[in-house]
Amino acid sequence: MTIITVETERLLLRAWQDSDLPAFAAMNADPEVMKYFPACLSREESDALANRIRQFMQQHGWGLWAVEAKGGAPFLGFVGLAIPSDDLPCSPCVEIGWRLAAEYWGQGYASEAAYGALNLAFNTLGLTEVVAFTAETNRPSRRVMERIGMTFSGETFDHPRLAVGHPLRKHVLYRRHPPF
Ligand SMILES: CC(C)(COP(=O)(O)OP(=O)(O)OC[C@H]1O[C@@H](n2cnc3c(N)ncnc32)[C@H](O)[C@@H]1OP(=O)(O)O)[C@@H](O)C(=O)NCCC(=O)NCCS
Repeated sequence: MTIITVETERLLLRAWQDSDLPAFAAMNADPEVMKYFPACLSREESDALANRIRQFMQQHGWGLWAVEAKGGAPFLGFVGLAIPSDDLPCSPCVEIGWRLAAEYWGQGYASEAAYGALNLAFNTLGLTEVVAFTAETNRPSRRVMERIGMTFSGETFDHPRLAVGHPLRKHVLYRRHPPF
């Protein structure tokens, strides 16, 4: 299937390339980036994740795109859409998510890319709902959700893959519907 490209003012959300994998692994090994996840990833785990993302994109034509800065850095991280494999309160659902290398934070890149992805979700793919969720304490990610017009109405859930008592277990669920 042809993989859709999303273009924003400063960014290109594109299909993954093998040349993205070293930068992806470095990002996934950075404890600052992985602060709100249970653990950092090894090179093998990072490559396996990239493969799963690429397979999903091959099937659907969209997914968690590799993000490139136009005329700049070739790989900032990923932003895009996914179908959670866990059984969550929103399931079945399409989620929007993001992970950027720390050197690119604080410049509005995640919000800009997510806005482009959400626009595609509603106005090209015709989805009727997109959700987003994160650990309750992940303020930067919640700010991105707010900046792209997603709503938190107090819905929370315990992440099924995190043990009772894990500090990241409680998750907040945001939703957005068309029009966009
Ligand atoms: C979440 C993330 C993608 C945000 O990327 P970004 O490009 O910095 O986001 P933006 O520049 O669009 O800014 C979004 C908001 O987060 C704030 N922010 C960015 N980095 C921050 C930080 N380290 N601490 C606190 N707030 C931060 C920005 O100030 C902005 O808020 P504002 O509108 O009040 O100014 C990035 O921090 C990241 O990759 N984090 C690690 C992975 C992760 O947690 N992913 C989400 C899992 S659900």
